[in-house]
Amino acid sequence: MKILVTGGAGYIGSHVIRQLIAAGHEPIALDDLSTGKIERLGDTPLVQMDLASADAANQVVEAIKKYSIEGVIHLAARKSVGESVDRPEYYYQQNINSVTNLLVAMRETKVMNMVFSSSAATYGSPDVDQVNEDYLARPINPYGETKLVGEWMMADAAKAWGLKVVSLRYFNVAGAGFDDLADTAVANLIPIAFNAIKNNQPIQVFGTDWPTSDGSCVRDYIHVLDLADAHIAALDYLNEDNREHSIFNVGTGKGSSVLAVIDTIHKVIGKDFAVDLVARRPGDPASLSADVSRINETLGWTAKQTLKDIVSSHYRATSN
Ligand code: WQD
Repeated sequence: MKILVTGGAGYIGSHVIRQLIAAGHEPIALDDLSTGKIERLGDTPLVQMDLASADAANQVVEAIKKYSIEGVIHLAARKSVGESVDRPEYYYQQNINSVTNLLVAMRETKVMNMVFSSSAATYGSPDVDQVNEDYLARPINPYGETKLVGEWMMADAAKAWGLKVVSLRYFNVAGAGFDDLADTAVANLIPIAFNAIKNNQPIQVFGTDWPTSDGSCVRDYIHVLDLADAHIAALDYLNEDNREHSIFNVGTGKGSSVLAVIDTIHKVIGKDFAVDLVARRPGDPASLSADVSRINETLGWTAKQTLKDIVSSHYRATSN
């Protein structure tokens, strides 16, 4: 299928594009290159535009017609939790207007297949360690709110005009499937930790007094290549008829603590580095991992890569 991948020049988007090609699809990237990198795309065509701009719907209609698009994978979004707290209106303008413009264009051109990049941030700070998709979504920051609203908009389009849509709730994505596709945004634990080591700075552990096995926060770290493959599985699922809006967690189903991640980094790089045990970060839940039984059973997808694979692939890709 000819698939439009918004955010295709991004860290996750470029992995999705390479896996689409490997699966025999024909991806076209759509990206404003504000954070994406064109060199990640190779020969994949690029529609360079801002999905949140006033004329975006018309530009997407033109792109759909030009490339005979049959489906969309929507990844383009602002995704910094901290920034969303400081600039909620910017996050709503960017993340919600993009979904609106995309749906307007898809309805007009009768493109009926959508895979939407949602997030574990829709769950907020749940009072259980492992969440399934029926857990009440109560986001605690504007970023998570924009992802939940995006899901609602997808469900409304499915009811109103038959859009076949899957929303994928990403847990903590890390690692590199290809050495030229490292996560270069130093915004999450594993890139932050490696960046600290490179700069001979201590890695900060945000709290060791949490109610977890070793006192540090627990998260579900999913390899970006496994995540990309989940999008291919979602596309195949949409190809069958009468699909209502489906939501799937994308994780490993296993939690790893911050100290376990740090221990894995130590094992992979084989050298000592400084670690500072500091205060908790506001807004962090103690433990959050995915119940992945629905995606396992419905899409036949399961994560294959381990935490060690994630850490060593990031290390290899950022050491070059
Ligand atoms: C992971 C753990 C920190 C940095 C966010 C988004 C979520 C999703 C994944 C997009 C936490 C701890 C971190 C550090 C630390 N993104 N930490 N020292 O907050 O789990 O989730 O990214 O969908 O939506 O909310 O990710 O990487 O910031 O933190 O101890 O220097 O590492 O406390 O427990 P988070 P993170």
